[in-house]
Amino acid sequence: MKEIKDINILAIESSCDETAAAVVHNGREVRSNVISSQIDLHKLYGGVVPEIASRKHIEKINQVIEEALKEAQTTLDDIDAIGVTYGPGLVGALLVGVAEAKAIAFARNLPLIGVHHIEGHISANYIENPELEPPFLCLVVSGGHTHLVCVKDYGKYEILGRTRDDAAGEAYDKVARAIGLGYPGGPKIDRLAKEGNPEAVKFPKAHMEDSPFDFSFSGLKSAVLNHINGCRMKGESFDPADIAASFQKAVVDVLVENSMHAVEVYGMNRFALAGGVASNSALREGMKSACEKKGIQLYYPSPILCTDNAAMIGAAAYYEYLSGTRHGWDLNAVPNLKLGER
Ligand code: KG4
Ligand code: ZN
Repeated sequence: MKEIKDINILAIESSCDETAAAVVHNGREVRSNVISSQIDLHKLYGGVVPEIASRKHIEKINQVIEEALKEAQTTLDDIDAIGVTYGPGLVGALLVGVAEAKAIAFARNLPLIGVHHIEGHISANYIENPELEPPFLCLVVSGGHTHLVCVKDYGKYEILGRTRDDAAGEAYDKVARAIGLGYPGGPKIDRLAKEGNPEAVKFPKAHMEDSPFDFSFSGLKSAVLNHINGCRMKGESFDPADIAASFQKAVVDVLVENSMHAVEVYGMNRFALAGGVASNSALREGMKSACEKKGIQLYYPSPILCTDNAAMIGAAAYYEYLSGTRHGWDLNAVPNLKLGER
């Protein structure tokens, strides 16, 4: 007999350009985490092409799941529930994962648990930090999202602030393209910035007067593009490493300042980073020193668990499973799903 505590979840993630499947035991032990990235394909177009993403997901998904079960040395006989990202994301991409999850759950008569993609990113922090439990504050910074979230309990979230325009990762990708680095730009700017001077150019840092935890990165992105165009028009040379470092400083300063402000207002002594940009070295360093000064425990996942993966969906699905969340056969992709919605 299986104890209630022994739950194996097969998790599926296909919201953007990674086809991913994982087997997660009791929410925090990753038995396998298989990711088939489409980056090389989308690179050719300078960003994710939704139609191509969906087509690639349908091609890869069965193999990725097969591999995840094999790596975990298990079969569907030992799986207790299917977790799947059902939003937010690209609708055609999400539909592939949702249809696959429904088919497996239906055929094996298993519970189906739809997971919010951001809840997945936040839950990635549970995997390597067995002591981490809510409540804590979390900064979710990815290609599609920039949210400052209060994690009140498992599955219970209050959004304190969000971006009014571009997500942090989106700004990284656009600036990278402008300085000729290609897609995805975040890791490339991260690397190049190490060789540049962060004080070389003073780019604007947007703080919202009326809502101190909101972010805005489109003005910064325009300022970088204007600076580059200005140099080109005047025939002046510019150092891409200096631009990368100065841009990165402007992003990281705002992320750290707003996060520390939230810590003060909400009196929380634990803080987590999540999402693709959470693997940024300057952000990690900036948050580390700010948290140390305030005596706050900082958590962040390993880089492979920061960018899109299914292990994080398995972690989130486990806590949803425990709280009784079960989705019906009418589960659909919800491209603009709000955090906390069922
Ligand atoms: O979480 P993720 O894989 O996808 C979304 O849910 O959006 O995040 C991808 C984003 C991309 O914009 C990528 O450029 C950014 O994360 N990223 C980084 C780094 N690694 C990935 N940004 C800055 N520094 C990095 N090291
Ligand atoms: Zn993501």
